[in-house]
Amino acid sequence: MASRNQLETYFRNNDGRLIHKWLHYFEIYERHFERFRGKKPVVLEFGVSQGGSLQMWRDYFGRGARIHGVDINPRCKSLEQRRTKIFIGDQADRTFLRSIVEEIGRPIDVVIEDGGHYPVQQINTFEEIYPHMSQEGVFLIEDLHTNYWPKKYAGGLRKSGTFIEYAKDLSDQLNAWHSREESFKVDDFTRTTTSMHFYDSIIVFERGQRVRPTHQMTGTPTVRDKDWAEKRGPVSRLVERFR
Ligand SMILES: C[S@@+](CC[C@H](N)C(=O)[O-])C[C@H]1O[C@@H](n2cnc3c(N)ncnc32)[C@H](O)[C@@H]1O
Repeated sequence: MASRNQLETYFRNNDGRLIHKWLHYFEIYERHFERFRGKKPVVLEFGVSQGGSLQMWRDYFGRGARIHGVDINPRCKSLEQRRTKIFIGDQADRTFLRSIVEEIGRPIDVVIEDGGHYPVQQINTFEEIYPHMSQEGVFLIEDLHTNYWPKKYAGGLRKSGTFIEYAKDLSDQLNAWHSREESFKVDDFTRTTTSMHFYDSIIVFERGQRVRPTHQMTGTPTVRDKDWAEKRGPVSRLVERFR
């Protein structure tokens, strides 16, 4: 049966440059990227390899999109096309990453991080690029299974320093509005991230401006037994507790 997923259809019929993707990624891409199609997004992919994924993003996001690739291999420069720019350098190098942000010169809407897969590259890239994304941008990092692989990538289960562990800490930071601890505070990440999505091998960060969450009660209480009334106390005290 033919797939209704546009990216997967493109991938399966690909007669352009080589693309290498895990098959379950397509559903995730579609879920988080669909809203940018035809809206002229600024797109940045780490890891160009044979250039096939850049062609796929061009096809998917539309002619007005500004597509950028980054790779450490200087040969990738020859894969540049009209409105598709390729930067050559090491994504672990923060100075290089800052120069990319400067050269692009506009907030980045979509990042696909599919580069060298070492935690230092992943973390440096996230820290340098994420704050420069558009208010409602999406940062997707893939192939995070490598964080569990001890040999080549020095990974392992709950291994400190991997991107997976770093992201687990960020999931706490999403909840910092509710902190009762001096050392756990709202920061820029808390204020500019609406959600994190953990998938097999992929984490997606959805951006958006957030303010301190509030809550309310509506409707009429229906359970009026004595216990509930005692536990509950005056409504004003309950609301106070959640501040
Ligand atoms: C998995 S491939 C990219 C695949 C491509 N995105 C695709 O979907 O077909 C990873 C690429 O990352 C590049 N790379 C490795 N280390 C890097 C680094 N430190 N900085 C930037 N790119 C790097 C490699 O040269 C390779 O082309």
